[in-house]
This record gives sequence, C-alpha cells and structure tokens, in this order.
Amino acid sequence: MSQPRKILVTSALPYANGPIHIGHLVEYIQTDIWSRFQKMRGHECWYVCADDAHGTPIMLRARQEGIEPEQLIARVAEEHKADFAAFRIGFDNYHSTHSEENRFFATCIYERNREAGHIVKREISQAYDPVEQMFLPDRFIKGQCPKCGAADQYGDNCEACGASYSPAELKNPVSAVSGATPIERQSEHHFFKLADFQAMLKDWTHGGHLQKEMANKLDEWFDAGLQEWDISRDAPYFGFEIPDHPGKYFYVWLDAPIGYMASFKQLCDRAGLDFDAFWNADSSAELYNFIGKDIVYFHCLFWPAMLHGAGFRKPTAVFAHGFLTVDGAKMSKSRGTFIKARTYLDHLNPEYLRYYFAAKLGSGVDDIDLNLEDFAQRVNSDLVGKLVNIASRCAGFINKRFANRLSAELAEPELFTQFVAAADSIASHYEGREFSRALREIMALADRANQYIDERQPWVLAKQEGREAELHAVCSMGLELFRLLMGYLRPVLPGTAEAAEAFLQIEPLRWADLAQPLGGHKISPFKPLMTRVEMPQITAMLEASKEDLKAAQAQLQGASDDNQLAADPIAETIDYADFAKVDLRVARIAKAEAVEGADKLLRLTLDLGGETRNVFAGIKSAYAPEDLEGRLTVMVANLAPRKMRFGLSEGMVLAAGPGGKELFILSPDSGAEPGMKVK
Ligand code: 2FM
Ligand code: ZN
Repeated sequence: MSQPRKILVTSALPYANGPIHIGHLVEYIQTDIWSRFQKMRGHECWYVCADDAHGTPIMLRARQEGIEPEQLIARVAEEHKADFAAFRIGFDNYHSTHSEENRFFATCIYERNREAGHIVKREISQAYDPVEQMFLPDRFIKGQCPKCGAADQYGDNCEACGASYSPAELKNPVSAVSGATPIERQSEHHFFKLADFQAMLKDWTHGGHLQKEMANKLDEWFDAGLQEWDISRDAPYFGFEIPDHPGKYFYVWLDAPIGYMASFKQLCDRAGLDFDAFWNADSSAELYNFIGKDIVYFHCLFWPAMLHGAGFRKPTAVFAHGFLTVDGAKMSKSRGTFIKARTYLDHLNPEYLRYYFAAKLGSGVDDIDLNLEDFAQRVNSDLVGKLVNIASRCAGFINKRFANRLSAELAEPELFTQFVAAADSIASHYEGREFSRALREIMALADRANQYIDERQPWVLAKQEGREAELHAVCSMGLELFRLLMGYLRPVLPGTAEAAEAFLQIEPLRWADLAQPLGGHKISPFKPLMTRVEMPQITAMLEASKEDLKAAQAQLQGASDDNQLAADPIAETIDYADFAKVDLRVARIAKAEAVEGADKLLRLTLDLGGETRNVFAGIKSAYAPEDLEGRLTVMVANLAPRKMRFGLSEGMVLAAGPGGKELFILSPDSGAEPGMKVK
C-alpha cells in the first residue's frame, strides 16, 4: 500500500425545512460508499456534513408552524440524523450552518475578501411586501406570466411557457406570503466580485478538478460573463448578521458551503485533528465535494473563488451526479414515488437501496432511474440469490458437521488467487466512482463461486460415506470466497458486511487483509443475512407515500423541499357578469403527450363531445401522459387561443395546487359527459 492519504469528503447540506427523500439519498449513498472505501484502504478519510439551516423559506416555515426557527432546525436535524443513521451514512460529523463555527468562518471569509477589495456595496431596487414588511425572494412573488399570460406563475419563470424573466415583469404580482401587491423598494446590498477571479477560475475549472461535462457547462457561463453575486439579504432573515452592517444578513448560499469547514472544525475540536492541515492554501490533504448537478454554479465558481479570495485551499475535485427518476419519471407525490427516507425504511431494508443505487452509479452526471420492478429483481437475484446463497449453502455443514471450524487448507488455491487478483481492478473502479463497474466485476466473481459450489455439490457429498474431508474442504472454500466478496462489497453494504463479520467471527474487513485466507478459523452459527424483496412491500411503500402527501397537506400547506409557500391568497371579488363570461366545459382527455423541448408542458387533445381542442398544460411535473388519457376534466373553453412556442393552445384545463409535483387536475363526478357546461 502506498502512503496513506489525508482526505476530507463532503456531501451537499440538506435544507433544514423538509425530510430526506430517496432523491437526496443518491448523493449520500454515493459519497458514503466512496468514503467507506477510502477508509477500508487505510487512508485517513473524514466525511462531514451538516444541515443547511438559514434562509427565507426556513424562517417562514417556522413562522407558519408558530415556532422559532431554532426550534424548527433542531427538530429537523434530529429527523435527518436518524434517517441518515438508518441508511448507514457514516458521517464522522454532522453539524449545522447555524453554529458558532460557521459564523466564525463565514465572517472570516467575508472580511478577508472585503479587505482584498472583492466586495462592493450598492443600492438595488427589489420587490417588497408592505404588509409583512419584508423583501421578497423571486420564488415568493406570483403573478401572470409577462410572455404567455398564464396565471399563478413564480417571479422567476413560467411553468406554462418556460419563459424566464425578472419579478418586476410579472403582471398583477402578489406576495405569496401575505397576498399583498409588492412595491419596489431600494436597499443597499453587498456584492461579491466574481469576475475578479475569472482567470483563476478558468484555470481551475480546466485543471482536472471537475468532470468534463461540468467544465464544459462552466465555459458557457464564462462566455456569458461572470456577474457580481449578491451575498446579502435584508432583515427579517434567518441567518448571520453581517458584522459591519446591522440589519443585513449573509445570503444562505454564502454560508452554506462554509458549513463544510464548520462541520470539520467541530470534528477537529472533538477528535484533536489539525484543521489547518486540511484547509491552508498549501495543504497537501485532499478535499472532495460531492454535489447534485443543479448546484454546480455555487460549487465550481462562487465556492472556489471565496476560498481563494480568503487564502484557503480550493477543492481537489467537485463531483456532480445526476437526478433520480422513479420508473422513468420525475418523483411524483400523487403517484407515491416521492418517497421519504423514513417511508422507505418502514417497508424495506436500506441495504437494498444502497446496492441498487451503486449498481446504477458511474462517474458521470447522467440521471439514474429507480425502476421498482428491476430493483426487486436485481436485489433478489444478486444479493439474495447469489451473494448470501454462497454462505447459506456452505455454512450449515460447517456448523453441524465440523463444529464451526473451517479447514486449514484452501481446497482451490488457484480460485482463491483469482478472486484476490480482482482486488486492484475493483479498487480502481471504486476510486473512480465507477460503482456499477465494481459491482459487475464482483457479481461475476459471485457467479464463479456459485458455479464452484454447483460443481462440487456439497449436499451430495454430505450424504456419501467417506467424503467428509472433501465436504469440509468445499464448504470452507465457499466461505473463504464469500468472505472476499463481502470485503469487496463492504463499502456498499456495510450492514450486511457487519453481520457477515459477526458470522465469520472476524474484525472489520480491510482491503489490505483480504488476500489472507481464514484457514482453520472458527465461525458462528449462520443466520440468514438478507431476505427477498417482495412486490407487496413496494406497493405498500407507494401507498404510504401517497398517505404522507395527504397528511402533509392536511397538517400544513407549508414550505416543502422546493420552497413552495402556503395556500394562495384569495383574489379580489368579481361581478357575476364577469364570472358568467367564462365558459367552463367538461372535456375528455383523448390524448396526452410530452412536448419535445418543453420541461413542464404536456400537449392534451381534449374531446368536448364533437369538437376537439389542442391545449398545452403545464402539468408534466405531476402527471405521466398515460395516466391522463381517458380522464374527464374541466376546461375553460372560451379562452382566446394563445400562440405558444410549441403551437396554438386552444383553452385551459383547471388544476389545483401550488405547482410542481403538487398539481391536481379537476375532474367531474361520474355521469358527466364531454361538452357539458360547468355552472
Ligand atoms: O441545494 C441544496 O439543497 C442546498 N441546501 C445545498 C447546499 S450545499 C452546500 F453548499 F452547503
Ligand atoms: Zn408563460
């Protein structure tokens, strides 16, 4: 083994206003596998994380619940920690961005950048809620899209036509907090001069620290020009007050990545580690940030620039991954595929999901799909049918016929050597985050081990006179191979590996020790290490996820993970005559299809009982086209046709809900017919 490396690993910090779901877990499982692998290799590797506890959504969420933000983040931190522990995410430390360590480093990084001239102040004009007396982030302003006229759109982009705009362009804007009409107000803000770091960033992003896809994406942003970054927010805000500017707070995204340092500092103080050895500009330690591809801008531009400007080291690498889809579609609350970590744990073994994600993960930024049938099939075939089967086919004989003792000699030294020889290649796949390749190679070895047992048929030997020694040799050999496989899989299946180590009565497996066979070692009685996944467990999990949605809606229409806010305010009254102008009709969705190039739209062909209409509806986030076909709904039939980017839209279907995954199209009771007028 070469020199031990000093490695610090992080995953992105989850927001402290919502539960962990299986989409989050892709990243924590990926990072955990990688850091467990490094530890098994004998390196000094530390894996830290924290809750991302600041910002307007958290402040408002606490307010809606009638509690202080500190109480909210304390509660959520406990829930997050319990979920992570159950999935065996082995953080060495889990902290919060709302901590003294983080205040210290955020202030330090701000002050050093300010002293170096990288921060400027200037007045800007922003939307302000005169009732709540607060400035409104774009997501908290709703109104009519300035491009297509769609109602109820956010202040930054339109879900109906996909247009991006500034909140000032929205028509009839309202504050999503109070329902008041926002006014424009001036305020002084602090800006980080990102362009000061243009040359450094250009070098760094092409210096082997990023995946190719990310470096290319960053080039587009360089070409567009690096903009100054607004790092301050006005009170009321839940965050750290800027030291030289009372009433102004650091923007949540300034102190979020600094949370990596804060969490590590807390670990250093507890474990007696040298913080500077990992963070000084000339540090020889390695620093890796695992993130989702949606937060590349923050981690590959702002974060290295802030660190550089303050005289700290930059990440050795930032590793981005793709998003999770379930059964080929975005996670959907209405379909029950928006699965919270806790709901999964109520029904299924976390080791299954760790294995399945690992089997899908490579080093790129492609999205990965959790196909639930494939999940059950693969777990059952690989883990239960192949891996655990090796042990269960051999262990009983060793337990009963040989007093739990393995034979001293290897029956097939060559086969053992072949298994040992795979270690380097498997290690290089883990190192390069090519987990799917590592697992393919390991499972090919598992096939080979099962083939050996099939050929030697211990169950036949057991019934024959005078073949005791052979039976002993074959079953011992099977368990020797099982131990190697468990060692290779240990980063992915820490729980199963622990149970296997207890069964084999061995110390936690380390990579360097794998080549040494057990010899005449004594083992424990075998207990089944894993059971099969059954489809009814999966169905029950999906049903429970739908129930979670109903419970959440009933409890509070609150800030969810996409920072959605509460129920929309009721609009001003209108005369009956105005209402009577709206021609609402029952329509049958004859056809529903995705629209090429549109993220949010479905093209609906609506049957009005003799007449058909083409309507583009911004409901793709909540519905798969096939779920809609044949359904009755309600449409505005006399809306003037609108020319959209993708064609003419001849009406509008009615849906309720705040948007995104939480959109529910309206349907009449049975008996209604296409074309009927809705009164
Ligand atoms: O996107 C998010 O969920 C953020 N809470 C991630 C922060 S990562 C780091 F910068 F803290
Ligand atoms: Zn629009």
